[in-house]
Amino acid sequence: MKLFIDSADVKQIAYLNEYYPISGVTTNPSLIVRENRPYLELLKEIREAIGEEKELFVQVIGDKAEEMVEEAKFVRRQVSGELVIKVPVTEEGIKAIKLLTAENIPTLATTIYTSFQALVAAMAGAKYVAPYVNRIDNLTGGGVKVVSEISSLFSSYQLSTEIIAASFKNVQQVHDVCLAGAESVTVGPELIEKFIAFPATPQDVTVFKEEWQGQYGKDQANL
Ligand code: E4P
Repeated sequence: MKLFIDSADVKQIAYLNEYYPISGVTTNPSLIVRENRPYLELLKEIREAIGEEKELFVQVIGDKAEEMVEEAKFVRRQVSGELVIKVPVTEEGIKAIKLLTAENIPTLATTIYTSFQALVAAMAGAKYVAPYVNRIDNLTGGGVKVVSEISSLFSSYQLSTEIIAASFKNVQQVHDVCLAGAESVTVGPELIEKFIAFPATPQDVTVFKEEWQGQYGKDQANL
């Protein structure tokens, strides 16, 4: 199981990367635009925040496969470390995935709404596929089912492509796709913080501490 941060907010990324078991960061054009800054400078700061080893995902914008390949190579020249190129599953996108795979450039097939889109992307050589769980739920209510179908198809055809389930509105959706076979999830900062939030936990911790202080008069066990 790998957990990615779905954000382009450098401060939040640095904080989450310090506290949580993070494998990398997925960005998309909307997330980058929201930061309202020169995008290469932003991507370089994200890289600095997570280090060279963790995967950073950057999406291409061009319509034609050749344009996507050109963009991918440009970004990879500008931003160091492990970089994965996000490519939408249009016809041109599938061609771009094939071209990039032939040059050993890792790709994530994005904007996935059906298991067949994922299957074709995997056959084209995508390293990852990103089904948009909440957006599928909003259309058909079957986000988790799509993830489960992709997982079955990849197993049946022995495809090594991994699922990074994306687009979540609540922790239950994340929980459900993990059980449905997603190898990884990419989640917004506000939802990642909710993963471990449960009121009984801090209450228990407070009681343990009060008892300890009552007996030993100290705040920590090593004092
Ligand atoms: C991830 O790669 C996607 O860009 C993202 O998860 C979409 O999420 P949203 O539906 O919350 O915008």
